[in-house]
Amino acid sequence: MSSQEIPEENLPSAQDADQPHGSVAVKDDPFADPGLPPHEHRIQDIDERAAKRSERVVAFLFVLSMLSTIAFIAAFVAIKPGKSIYVFPIGHISALNFALGMTLGLALFCIGAGAVHWARTLMSDVEVADERHAIEAEPAVKAKVLADFKQGAQESQFGRRKLIRNTLFGAVAMVPLSGIVLLRDLGPLPEDKLRHTAWKAGKLLVNVNTNEPLRPSDIAVGSLTFAKPEGVEEHDEDFQQVMGKAALMLVRIQPEDIKDKQELAWGHEGIVAYSKVCTHVGCPISLYEQQTHHVLCPCHQSTFDLSDGARVIFGPAGHALPQLRIGVSAEGYLQALGDFAEPVGPAFWERG
Ligand code: FES
Repeated sequence: MSSQEIPEENLPSAQDADQPHGSVAVKDDPFADPGLPPHEHRIQDIDERAAKRSERVVAFLFVLSMLSTIAFIAAFVAIKPGKSIYVFPIGHISALNFALGMTLGLALFCIGAGAVHWARTLMSDVEVADERHAIEAEPAVKAKVLADFKQGAQESQFGRRKLIRNTLFGAVAMVPLSGIVLLRDLGPLPEDKLRHTAWKAGKLLVNVNTNEPLRPSDIAVGSLTFAKPEGVEEHDEDFQQVMGKAALMLVRIQPEDIKDKQELAWGHEGIVAYSKVCTHVGCPISLYEQQTHHVLCPCHQSTFDLSDGARVIFGPAGHALPQLRIGVSAEGYLQALGDFAEPVGPAFWERG
């Protein structure tokens, strides 16, 4: 389309000729900036007593948050994990979870509600129109931003309303305590439990299959017998944990075939007792080769020589199996003469 074909009403008027080059005055612009509505003062802006009331409400919410955090910690300490309560309409739920959820939720809610109320009633609500500007800031702009920031800080009354400021600091500082307290759920420290088993001097060796105390005559050459400490019963609540450390295997070897002097001394007439827990990653050892006196762990094929201090002759295990020192009681039963001399199980040595 040539310039002759442009409708006359679309051509610049004589008035537009006064505009800068390239710009045309727009008539009846439907997208014209309507401007900001006139600012209306809030009650808190003109009445210091109303401002004080708002300040107290905000402070109350922050204090409530602090109390909720304290209640969270108290609930964590005081309520037993197994206790349940009835909450309508949910039904029976864990009292501890309910208390922790409610108190932590209230602590966080109060901080948020206090901050919102503070912003809506006390901070400046003057709307400011700011023209778009180049992304690259001039030094003068930076100085203005800094001045605006300082003015904003002043208008938020953060420095002036010390009660709000201090209670906010308190509430925000205390909320993380809830997370720190929860770290306790990682469980009590094991202390020296990993270093000890249920074996101690005088404990009889009981056959795990017959539940009868073992006599030396019960251990035949070439057989592998599994034993547990007397007093440890299958129906005990902690049976698995106890046996996870105390599981024992017994073999009888001709004394002249035993190469390790300490092994011979810690046994009884060629009967030697070793931990059944593999020193690789803790599988139960269960395969015995009577000609060679080797025992094999089925998990990763670590092989231990029971005629030579149960040292590792093959596989990934890094340590010999711990030996239990045994003897015979006055009644003729096999008994432990103490606990294992070293921790049983997988590579506990390296961990300290
Ligand atoms: S657990 Fe025994 S070899 Fe891996």
